[in-house]
Amino acid sequence: MRLMPDIAPDRAALLALLEFHVAAGVDCALDEIPHDRFADDAARPAAEAPAGASVAPMPGRPAAAGSGSAATAQSHPLLQRAPEPRTPARVAVASPEEAASAARDQARSARSLEELAALLASFEGCGLRVTAKNLVFADGNPQSRLMLVGEAPGGDEDRIGKPFVGRSGQLLDRMLAAIGLDRTSVYIANIVPWRPPGNRTPTPQEVAICRPFIEKQIELADPDILVCLGGPSAQTLLSIKEGILKTRGRWFPYQTGRREIRAFATLHPAYLLRQPLQKRLAWRDFRALKRALEGRT
Ligand code: URA
Repeated sequence: MRLMPDIAPDRAALLALLEFHVAAGVDCALDEIPHDRFADDAARPAAEAPAGASVAPMPGRPAAAGSGSAATAQSHPLLQRAPEPRTPARVAVASPEEAASAARDQARSARSLEELAALLASFEGCGLRVTAKNLVFADGNPQSRLMLVGEAPGGDEDRIGKPFVGRSGQLLDRMLAAIGLDRTSVYIANIVPWRPPGNRTPTPQEVAICRPFIEKQIELADPDILVCLGGPSAQTLLSIKEGILKTRGRWFPYQTGRREIRAFATLHPAYLLRQPLQKRLAWRDFRALKRALEGRT
C-alpha cells in the first residue's frame, strides 16, 4: 500500500485507509455515519414482508428507484420513480438458477416499461442491488426507433440513477450529436441495471439474472434498431462469442419477442476513452447507423 512520505503518521494512516477503501470499491460516501442496512432488513417486522416471500428476502436499499421521493422525479413519466408492482416481486432465492428463473417469470409478466421498472425496483434476486445506491433503468425517449444498450452503470450513473451520465456518457452524447441525435431521440439502458461494486465486470450469474429484464425492456420499447455498446452487451444480447473488434460494424437479426429487428454492435465509449485512435472505427459505425436510420441501407 502506498503511503504519503511527507505527512504525519496518523494522517498517513488515514490516507492509507482511504486508499484501501477505494481499492476495495468503496469510492463514495452515502451517509455521515456507517449504516448497517443488513441489520435494518433483519429488524423489519414480518408483517412488512410481502406475500410470497418464503425465506428472508435479500436486503433492499431504501434509496432505490421505486421508493417514491419527489426529489428524484424527472420530467418523463418513465424516468419518474417506478410505481408499485402489480404483484410483489420479492423472491425467495436459493441459487443463481432460481434467481434467473424468477427474473424470467417477473419480466414476462410486465405489460409496460413502467411495470418492468417497478418489478426491477423490487426484485431481490440480484445481489448487486444491495451495494448499488440506485436502480439505473433507462434514459432518453422510449418511443425512439433507436435503443442503445451498455453493460452496467458506473459510479456517476449509480449516484444519479440514469445510464451513461459519466465520462463515457458524455462521449456517447458527442457521438450521437455527430449524427444528429440526442437523448430525446434515443432510448438507453444497460444489460445490468445496478452498479457492480468498484465498477467490476458483472459476473456471468449476474448477467444471466438480469438478462430477462433487458430483453423484456427491448421488447416493450420496440425499437427498429438495437445498438449493443461494447462486447459484453453484444455477447449477451446477440449470443455471439467473438470479441467486439470482430463484431463491430456488423448487423445481426434480433428477435424482440414481437418481431425481428436489426441489431448493430459498436465499440463502448469507455473503451474509446482508453483507446482514442479507435474513434475512427466508431465514427464509421455511427455513419452506418445514420444511413440505416435514414433507410439508406
Ligand atoms: N458504462 C455502461 O456500460 N453503462 C453506463 O451506464 C455507464 C458506463
